[in-house]
Amino acid sequence: MRLGDCHNFHDFRAMAKRRLPGPIFDYIDGAADDEVTHRRNSESFERCDLVPNVLRGVGQVDMSVTVMGQKLAMPVYCSPTALQRLFHHEGERAVAAAAAKYGTMFGVSSLGTTSLEELRKRHDTPQVYQFYFHRDRGLNRAMMQRARDAGVEVMMLTVDSITGGNRERDLRTGFSIPFKLTLAGMLQFALKPSWALNYLTHERFRLPQLDAHVDMGGGAMSISRYFTEMLDPTMSWDDVAEMVKLWSGQFCLKGVMSVADARRAVDIGCTGIVLSNHGGRQLDGSRAAFDQLAEIVDAVGDRIDVIMDGGVQRGTHVLKALSLGAKAVGLGRYYLYPLAAAGQPGVERALGAMRTEIERGMKLMGCSSIDQLSRENLRFR
Ligand SMILES: Cc1cc2nc3c(=O)[nH]c(=O)nc-3n(C[C@H](O)[C@H](O)[C@H](O)COP(=O)(O)O)c2cc1C
Repeated sequence: MRLGDCHNFHDFRAMAKRRLPGPIFDYIDGAADDEVTHRRNSESFERCDLVPNVLRGVGQVDMSVTVMGQKLAMPVYCSPTALQRLFHHEGERAVAAAAAKYGTMFGVSSLGTTSLEELRKRHDTPQVYQFYFHRDRGLNRAMMQRARDAGVEVMMLTVDSITGGNRERDLRTGFSIPFKLTLAGMLQFALKPSWALNYLTHERFRLPQLDAHVDMGGGAMSISRYFTEMLDPTMSWDDVAEMVKLWSGQFCLKGVMSVADARRAVDIGCTGIVLSNHGGRQLDGSRAAFDQLAEIVDAVGDRIDVIMDGGVQRGTHVLKALSLGAKAVGLGRYYLYPLAAAGQPGVERALGAMRTEIERGMKLMGCSSIDQLSRENLRFR
């Protein structure tokens, strides 16, 4: 299977599955408990029909949006995800370069494998820094200062990971950082020697955002201990309000789902919220962001930028979310499988396909700009 054979999400997923050792593929592909929420995320778009208008003069289509003060050439961005250099040695560099090529925003995870400073220097498209709230308040302040010094445009605090989700595929394979593979997991790595060769012949794997706190070499701390020991499960709205004030710029909460929380995010001065269930990787049974979107937009959409992610595989999914009132849509696995399959050319091909699908979908809907999309053109089954 070659990159040229990949025309959609499912093709990229199949190619990634062939390239990656099983435990790594399962880390990306898997979700929490019975993976119900993960499945629902994509299914939720299928319960919504598009009702197109015709004869509207759609020679030129403008799909740009402005979200949290950032102008994006297309209404999707690459949501922050962990450990990208494990999926392909180019990792975040490939994703950031592809996002820059398509004029869109790129999120760097706290658990990213390339430094936010390096990525900020390489590209001038907007950058999000995704971070977690630590028990050590000094560390939280230091991380924000680091992001400010680097020139990060948007701070994104993930609030749905107060404890780790139950990812049973990882338990079976022993996937963790540092690796603690089961025998079955080790055998799966042995089946993909080209991945191992690639991994071993490139720069050492690191977590530059957390270097000082997590030891990847198997010494001081694993990622799961980072979550249980360093993050603060008592984090409250007052704590976050302080951070928002300190940052005094674009600040959004990732993982808000209820109307009450959306209202509080407005009250403490956030400029954005991302409706998200973390790709189904945290609370299984949690509602799909798309299903929850209208309720949130109706409550706070005039006061804060509402964004959503989860299960997005098609341009028409994006059009449905924008029609309901989302300002932009985050992509996760949609770009991770292409990254794993083929590095930067893979991510570029996937983002290119997404742009083509959005453009085609807008033309077929009779819309030449995003503000022409509305609920009038949606029906729910
Ligand atoms: C492999 C993987 C790693 C992720 N790492 C992070 C992370 O470090 N921080 C975070 O806030 N979200 C993380 N996410 C969640 C994504 O940012 C996003 O919310 C989710 O993937 C959207 O769902 P989708 O994959 O169905 O598009 C991760 C998701 C995946 C699949």
